[in-house]
Amino acid sequence: MATKVRTQFICTECGGAQMKWMGRCPECGEWNTLVESRVQERPTVVAGGSAGPAGAPGPVSLPEIPDEPSRRLVLENSELNRVLGGGIVPGAGILVGGDPGIGKSTLLIQTAAEVARHVGKVLYVSAEESAYQIGRRASRLGLDEARLLILADTILETILEEIGRVRPALVIVDSVQAIHSNASASAAGSVSQVRDCAGHLLRQSRQLNIPLFLVGHVTKEGAIAGPRVLEHMVDAVLQLEGERFHAYRLLHSVKNRFGSTNEVGVFEMTGRGMAPVANPSAMFLAERLPNAAGSAIAVPLEGSRPLLVEVQALASPTAFSQPRRTGNGVDFNRLLLVTAVLSKRMGLSLSAQDIFVNVIGGLRVGEPAADLAIAAAITSSYRNAPLAADAALIGEIGLSGELRSVSQLALRLHEAAKLGFARAIVPRHALRRKGREAGSGDAGASSSDLPAEIKVIGARTVSEALDAALLK
Ligand code: TYD
Ligand code: MG
Repeated sequence: MATKVRTQFICTECGGAQMKWMGRCPECGEWNTLVESRVQERPTVVAGGSAGPAGAPGPVSLPEIPDEPSRRLVLENSELNRVLGGGIVPGAGILVGGDPGIGKSTLLIQTAAEVARHVGKVLYVSAEESAYQIGRRASRLGLDEARLLILADTILETILEEIGRVRPALVIVDSVQAIHSNASASAAGSVSQVRDCAGHLLRQSRQLNIPLFLVGHVTKEGAIAGPRVLEHMVDAVLQLEGERFHAYRLLHSVKNRFGSTNEVGVFEMTGRGMAPVANPSAMFLAERLPNAAGSAIAVPLEGSRPLLVEVQALASPTAFSQPRRTGNGVDFNRLLLVTAVLSKRMGLSLSAQDIFVNVIGGLRVGEPAADLAIAAAITSSYRNAPLAADAALIGEIGLSGELRSVSQLALRLHEAAKLGFARAIVPRHALRRKGREAGSGDAGASSSDLPAEIKVIGARTVSEALDAALLK
């Protein structure tokens, strides 16, 4: 059969295909995102799979649909389980994104070894590293599973053939950007190549009911390289993040057809690979100096999970005409807002002070609920007065200096109580539930929800909160 090659223009944002080039994608409205790609009219037919929805079952009556799609593969790795929504769903396509060097290959070879140990053969396709390099990494990690098969190849057709032949319990393709098809006319790594290769791999794994992890690199803009398109094709998108010079890694579920997207898993990069961290708050607080001026405890939510983190600030007289504001791990605009409120509402003369704020552990805290901890850390450093070491500080700061309610207060307080904090300073509003209608948002927490072990102090303003928290 002759295959016809034609030219299309594919949007790197939404994946929409146009017949001619345009400055603006008519589907998503983005500018300059259409790239030329040459496609074949007929998709490649591969061993172990066929093109099109062959054998599609047709309509099913609603009561006949089972509750769970199928049995999940539950992993020992509790953090990865959590992010996946309780294990790996058979036939699911999971895209794992993250900056180079963040630990994607390490996490996946460990997962591959675990499945090989307990379930059956696993095919790890390495398109970037040689089998020797993978072998070296595996031996450093102490892995020697015989059922873990390494295929160092970049040709789509070979990979599909091997998957069809081996019929493994799990396939990992590292990375999808490094795969190319012999049959495709477009350049390796181009949007249409990546999209087509991923499409074939996903279709085959769905047909054979084999779960598939695809590794994707992240561009500077944070999109999974080139093809945002991939995000629409897979069942789940996991994003591995962390600061290069810190050991902690957060695995977020950005999309999950089989679970919640609010989940986050915490790992530590150790000499023996990625170790799940069951109690991240304890780790983030491990090196804290109690009673040091400029240190405050915030309780941000990472997904649906509260974490206790230390926020440090240093205010020191500036040598410049323009004082500096530097934030590490905090939202810079919120830092400026908090500083302005402290100057205006609390009378702190910060205009001649350089201010540095740092969240310990390389964690990023974007949530306004951390405002109060940032304000307290800055004030504590400026006044050289420590904050009560056993107090957690929770609340968003408004422009009038008022302390505003935050979501999931009870959840945050339970985490603080679990870590042995005796007090929490929170927005007074969040506590006043009586007289309001039930279900009027989740801003309020009734006293029965709150942990008994922790003394909850309600404050209306930043000023009240700081009076309660500062030791001098
Ligand atoms: P890697 O998994 O190769 O990252 P990615 O696949 O996301 O590019 O991890 C690379 C980094 O991890 C590298 O800098 C070395 C470090 N590392 C450890 O610290 N401990 C280990 O056990 C391993 C295997 C890697
Ligand atoms: Mg890698």
